[in-house]
Amino acid sequence: AIETSCDETGVAILDCSGGLARPQFKIRANAITTQIELHKEFGGVVPNIAKREHIKHLPILLIEALNKAGIKNPAEEIDALAVTVGPGLEPALWAGITFAQELAQDWKLPVVASNHMEGHIAAILLPTDAKSKIKNEKVSFPAIATLVSGGHTELVLIKNWLDYKVIGETVDDAAGEAFDKVARMLDLPYPGGPEISRLATTGNRYAHSFPRPMINTKNYNFSFSGLKTSVLYTLRDFKTKHIAYTKNDIAASFEEAVVDVLLFKTLRAIKEHNAQTLILGGGVAANARLRSSMQIAAKKIGARIHLPALKLTTDNAAMIAASAYFHTEKNDFTNWKKLSAHGTMPL
Ligand code: KG4
Ligand code: ZN
Repeated sequence: AIETSCDETGVAILDCSGGLARPQFKIRANAITTQIELHKEFGGVVPNIAKREHIKHLPILLIEALNKAGIKNPAEEIDALAVTVGPGLEPALWAGITFAQELAQDWKLPVVASNHMEGHIAAILLPTDAKSKIKNEKVSFPAIATLVSGGHTELVLIKNWLDYKVIGETVDDAAGEAFDKVARMLDLPYPGGPEISRLATTGNRYAHSFPRPMINTKNYNFSFSGLKTSVLYTLRDFKTKHIAYTKNDIAASFEEAVVDVLLFKTLRAIKEHNAQTLILGGGVAANARLRSSMQIAAKKIGARIHLPALKLTTDNAAMIAASAYFHTEKNDFTNWKKLSAHGTMPL
């Protein structure tokens, strides 16, 4: 599988078994390179720089992955290819697609056109790394997936693998985007999520009462733009009035507001849909406070929770291979000549 939707370039090779009833995976190789350092000076991902870097790194990562997996003759030993076609930055997606097209042609392999968000869902099925054993995850449906990344915040009702219904989403900023923007206000480097969560560990979560936007609305939608603006105004006020504050308290109080909203709506969705299972996915699922709050809450209401391995929460190609396996089981392949990037591809 090939992943190039944002600023991580990934090539992964997985052994897949068990069918849709019990999908199981062994990671043979999960080669990845991040461009974070390059985009840092711009405070966010620049699509054309991302594309250029993906093109540069893909052949190197492919060789690394083939070597790691001990594959000498890919045309014989690999059964299918997968490539992320959306959602994501279109120039970046095209880099992966063009590369996959060359491989499909050379190796004469069928291709799955993968959805990045489905990859974040499938990440819960993956073992931590190539050395660890197959993860023995049996997922009971219906499940609610809370997907929180840099570009998306979605609540998904999953009746089975391949049967997804987005029941709620953000009406403005994504959760990860809010983390990144608040980090910038605090002069912290990109990506802001890990920086905020690091500061938050020693901050007071109740120092500032930031709003919990849309927490009481009847739908499952989210809004993080107002929360972000509230942090901005608070900081502005403190600065003009020379009131002392710590970045740690701001980070902790902001993080708590995000976690509260995500938790509240997720729990309501679980109850109202009689879901047995909670799945957490996307880069923000690396957040320790979010993980532990969701774990505690799921236990309280008797729902089983599945979290992705920490290493596999942010973008990688292993999760794309895992989700593509569902599609191979249904012979859902796309002619490589017809592959194309869909920046806003829905689940
Ligand atoms: O899924 P991902 O790697 O890329 C997209 O598909 O967007 O998610 C990246 C996002 C970034 O916004 C980053 O700040 C956020 O995930 N993130 C975190 C943490 N680690 C990454 N947010 C909060 N806490 C974290 N520990
Ligand atoms: Zn992602």
